[in-house]
Amino acid sequence: MKSAGRAVMMRHMELIIADPTGLCFGVKRAIENLEQALERYRHVYSFGSPIHNPQEVERLCRKGLVVVHSPEEIPVGSVSFVRAHGVSPRTMEALHEIRSRVIDGTCPFVRTAQERARALAQEGYQVVILGDENHPEVRGIVGYVESDRPPIVLSNPDDLDPRRRFDRCGVLSQTTQRESVLEELVKRLVSVSLELKVYNTICKATIARQESIVRLVPKVDGIIVIGGRNSANTGKMVEIARAAGVETQWIEHSGELDGGWLENKRSIGVAAGGSTPDWLIKELTEKLRTL
Ligand code: F3S
Repeated sequence: MKSAGRAVMMRHMELIIADPTGLCFGVKRAIENLEQALERYRHVYSFGSPIHNPQEVERLCRKGLVVVHSPEEIPVGSVSFVRAHGVSPRTMEALHEIRSRVIDGTCPFVRTAQERARALAQEGYQVVILGDENHPEVRGIVGYVESDRPPIVLSNPDDLDPRRRFDRCGVLSQTTQRESVLEELVKRLVSVSLELKVYNTICKATIARQESIVRLVPKVDGIIVIGGRNSANTGKMVEIARAAGVETQWIEHSGELDGGWLENKRSIGVAAGGSTPDWLIKELTEKLRTL
C-alpha cells in the first residue's frame, strides 16, 4: 500500500507532504520548453497564461515571457508558445498565419484527448466531453470536433438532458476531471445510447494527486493545498479534501498562510496541484517549520 506521504516532525506538530505532489509531467515539460525558448529568444508570446500558477507566470515574465489573449496581439514573425492545455486547430493555424515560430508545449495526454475527439467525430459519434466548457483545454478539444453535430460539454452528469437519445455516442473527459464523475456520466449515457464508446482521458498524474489527498485525510487534522486559484486540478484536490470533512486551506503562496488556523492541530498535510512549482512548496514548508 502507498504511504500517505513524507512525514517531517516539527516543534509542535507533524507535517506530512502528499506523495506525489506538485508539478506534473506535462507542466514540467512545458516550463522547460518555455525556459529554453526564453534563453534563446528575447521574448516569447504565450496565447493565454502558460501555467495556471500566477507566481510562476510572474517569474517567467521577468525572463521575457509576454502573455497575450488573442493571436492578433502577437507581433508578426515573433516566437509564440502553446501551453500544456493545447489549442484548437483554428488557433494553431492563426499562429502560423502570423508567421510566428510556434513552440508547442501541448501535453501529450491532452493531445490524446484532442485526437480521440477528432476521431469520434469523424466516425460519426455524437461527442460528449466531461469538463468545464470555459477551460482552455476543453475549448481546444472542442475545436477538434469537426462535425455538423456540435459536441456536448457537461461539467456535471446532472446536466445531461434526460430527453436526449443517441444512436452512437462517444464520451471523453478533460484530463483533470474526477474518475468517479466520469463513471457516473457513463452510467447515464449507457441507458440513452444504442452504442457508446468511452475514452478515459483523465490523466494518471491527476488521479495520483487526487489519491494522495485521499490517503492524507485520515492522518491529519488539516490540509493545506497550495496552487493557483485558476488551476482546475488544484481545485479538484481542495474539493476532495473538503468533501472528506477535513479542514482545508487553499493558498497560492506561503504569504497567504493563516497562522491562527494551525492552532490546536497536531498533524498537518501539505499537497500541491500539478501546476505548482517546487520553489513555492519549499517556501511553504520552510515557513511551517519556523512556526
Ligand atoms: Fe498533462 Fe496530466 Fe499534467 S494532462 S499537463 S500531465 S495533469
